[in-house]
Amino acid sequence: MPKISNISCHKIVNSRGDWTVMTKVTLDDGSVGVQSVPEGASKGKKEAVDILPEKSVDLVSNVINAALLGKDPFNQGNIDKTLVEIDGTENKRHLGANSILSVSLAVSKAAAASKGTPLYKYLREIFDPGNNEYTIPTPAFNILNGGKHANNKLSFQEFMVMPAKKVPFDKAYEMGVNIYHDLEKNLAKAGMDIDVGDEGGFAPNGLTPKLALEFIKECAAERSKPGGNVFFGIDVAADSFKEILNYFIEEEGLHLNSEGLADYYRDLLKDFPLIYLEDPFQEEDFAAWKKFYNEFSETLMIVGDDLTVTNPSVLEQIIPMKLINAVIAKPNQIGTLTETFEFIKIAKDNNLQVIVSHRSGDTAEDTFIADLAVAVGAEFMKSGAPARGERVAKYNRLLEIFLELSSN
Ligand code: PGA
Ligand code: ZN
Repeated sequence: MPKISNISCHKIVNSRGDWTVMTKVTLDDGSVGVQSVPEGASKGKKEAVDILPEKSVDLVSNVINAALLGKDPFNQGNIDKTLVEIDGTENKRHLGANSILSVSLAVSKAAAASKGTPLYKYLREIFDPGNNEYTIPTPAFNILNGGKHANNKLSFQEFMVMPAKKVPFDKAYEMGVNIYHDLEKNLAKAGMDIDVGDEGGFAPNGLTPKLALEFIKECAAERSKPGGNVFFGIDVAADSFKEILNYFIEEEGLHLNSEGLADYYRDLLKDFPLIYLEDPFQEEDFAAWKKFYNEFSETLMIVGDDLTVTNPSVLEQIIPMKLINAVIAKPNQIGTLTETFEFIKIAKDNNLQVIVSHRSGDTAEDTFIADLAVAVGAEFMKSGAPARGERVAKYNRLLEIFLELSSN
């Protein structure tokens, strides 16, 4: 059986021009796994924390390299347990979630390479051994950016188009690309900016959430008629415009309390084919989540991201409160593959839909989340707009898996 023979790490630059780390795990049979680390801009308070890239490079190349030397790369559980134990903190601040994540995922890639197995199949063997049924997640294309991902005055963070589940991935991808370009044309025609935000969606000034949805509706018109093939979703990321008491929708001068914000959503839900709202309230505004869930859980995906931070224990506390029917899974919110799997298993056992997601600061060389999404049978994958290298790398990898599975 091959063993881990070396772990090295160096700094690279991410899509926002910020430094991050890239780790290379080598096995003694010559197999290699390389993993870079993404970073969010609108983070949940309970996310695992990153350390400075310089410090991370040092700890991975020395402390972690020494600790994992000679270990079995196929025992992912043991690798991750060792990393968590050496770290010894609740939020991974000692070794850094960035250090731990890069090693944890790179080990799985090296193991898959050593076996000569596609990564999604190798990950499936760990997550749900013996299950050979694969589905491709539906892409959620973030085509208009606001919040902390853009310099415009649009409070809500992400406006997404989501093809119907019945549309096969290649057609869904095409649909996303076409809507993206139609939106580009329509914004330009209206004299608006077509510069893009962190996730590749357009980010003009002068939009309100309603106007943003009007623009999207216009280009998705034919496709979004009742019974049509495309729906809308919003990642509100409500924490980013929460004041002490109210939510401040600056572009409309509105200071809304939680019920006022719920009314705001009720209006949007009347006018647009919205099926998805992520983080509609700040992560501690439980009463607002609860009331909203009671009213809309049958008709809307109510998605936890900052609320649940891919953390198994946090999710176990949230589930009995009945606030959500879907969760975002981002490996870098928690730091290890094993804990990410644990989180997704808890979600599935409780009938929550799963959306595997990138981060706003991401890297073009990495496509791990695409393989992960297929491996765990996630219902959706978020990787931003169908534009910009670091965004399309993940969608292109899904397309590759889709083609591979369709040809079998
Ligand atoms: P982030 O945003 O990567 O900047 O945290 C993504 C999200 O909120 O879903
Ligand atoms: Zn989010």
